[in-house]
Amino acid sequence: MKLSELAAIKAKMESVVSVRSGEEATDGVRKHVLICGGTGCTSSNSVTISETMKAELEKAGIADEVKVVLTGCFGLCALGPIMIVYPEGVFYSAVKVEDVPEIVKNHLVNGEVVTRLVYKDEITGEHVHSLMETRFYKSQKRVALRNCGAIDPEDIEEYIAKDGYAALGKVLTEMTPQGVIDTMKESGLRGRGGGGFPTGNKWQFAANSVSDKKYVVCNADEGDPGAFMDRSILEGDPHAVIEAMAIAGYAIGADEGYVYVRAEYPIAVRRLQKAIDQAREYGLLGKDIFGTGFNFDLNIRLGAGAFVCGEETALLTSIEGKRGEPRPRPPFPAVKGLFGQPTIINNVETYANVPQIILKGVEWFTSMGTERSKGTKVFALGGKITNTGLVEVPMGTTLRTVIEEIGGGIPGGKKFKAA
Ligand SMILES: Cc1cc2nc3c(=O)[nH]c(=O)nc-3n(C[C@H](O)[C@H](O)[C@H](O)COP(=O)(O)O)c2cc1C
Ligand code: FES
Repeated sequence: MKLSELAAIKAKMESVVSVRSGEEATDGVRKHVLICGGTGCTSSNSVTISETMKAELEKAGIADEVKVVLTGCFGLCALGPIMIVYPEGVFYSAVKVEDVPEIVKNHLVNGEVVTRLVYKDEITGEHVHSLMETRFYKSQKRVALRNCGAIDPEDIEEYIAKDGYAALGKVLTEMTPQGVIDTMKESGLRGRGGGGFPTGNKWQFAANSVSDKKYVVCNADEGDPGAFMDRSILEGDPHAVIEAMAIAGYAIGADEGYVYVRAEYPIAVRRLQKAIDQAREYGLLGKDIFGTGFNFDLNIRLGAGAFVCGEETALLTSIEGKRGEPRPRPPFPAVKGLFGQPTIINNVETYANVPQIILKGVEWFTSMGTERSKGTKVFALGGKITNTGLVEVPMGTTLRTVIEEIGGGIPGGKKFKAA
């Protein structure tokens, strides 16, 4: 693919972006119904809801005017299945299969919102029509999650519509590998996998290691109990991780990457594989990407559920087909990693930030967060909290804001004790 072809796909998809920003369609598809296809909502029947919706639209004779999309997690998992109807952005929660004919008849045919299904504020009890107006979303800043719940993760063109692969195009045609590393250093991005190591420094070490073969690895093992940040990113926006890994490959001089993902994440694995296949088909993975001579391809390896395999050296040992036991450091992976070659390993969420930093710039990214840690952080809210789900807030946001305001506090007006 050439850069001009990427621009042509983006132009073709303009109406999709317009409708989901609240504007009229220009391609005749006047409504978009986005239904959450994350693991949480899938377990409460969202796939059947989506199929029923398509069948009802056929019956009503408006299947050509309404686009039904299964997305990744919207965040408010406790109230799933979630559905949003654009361009008006009406936010339905706890939708059941039996509700679908009413939504089609009243809302999609007659233009009347089904008020009883519209999200209700947990404190005031009032209906809130728009997702972004809810207490849950107001204090959030979505960077890593920006496409989760907003696009069809199984359609590469929807990702391209939202500036997807533009960052890869930019680095390959306008930046040097060292320029990319400097940008990552200046952004202040730190690893989101737990250690908080500065990402740009890690990439510099691997770039400095001299070798004909290097690797880029993504840690999607996510062993921490109750955590589902990485799963949700892979389910909702797999191309962001693929694009970031290709950018990392260019920066350090690697032509191959591995995503190590838990086998317990079947939806994430399936969507990631589909995304890799589509990226290859569009020439965004493989040989001579954007006609620049840069080659990069990706493989998936499934983890068998050992917590220790989330540790980076154990993870690399496991990819090599051996028992996943940690090895002593030094040597660090950037010097001697996968199959003994220089390797960078970053977490899913770390990668999900990279294309945005390249496109929007260091100043934008460093405007969020604290003095020593920039950007945002995704958290999974679970346990005794009103809004169980997934949230993303600027670094430095207090636990009180996350738990009391966004999380809606402890059910039954109980006092918060510990997290
Ligand atoms: C016992 C153990 C388990 C870990 N599990 C994970 C994990 O599940 N996911 C992850 O990204 N990092 C995990 N880490 C951290 C990784 O070793 C590594 O620091 C991280 O993948 C680097 O990526 P980052 O710099 O983008 O954070 C674990 C570390 C230890 C010691
Ligand atoms: S899985 Fe549907 S909102 Fe999180």
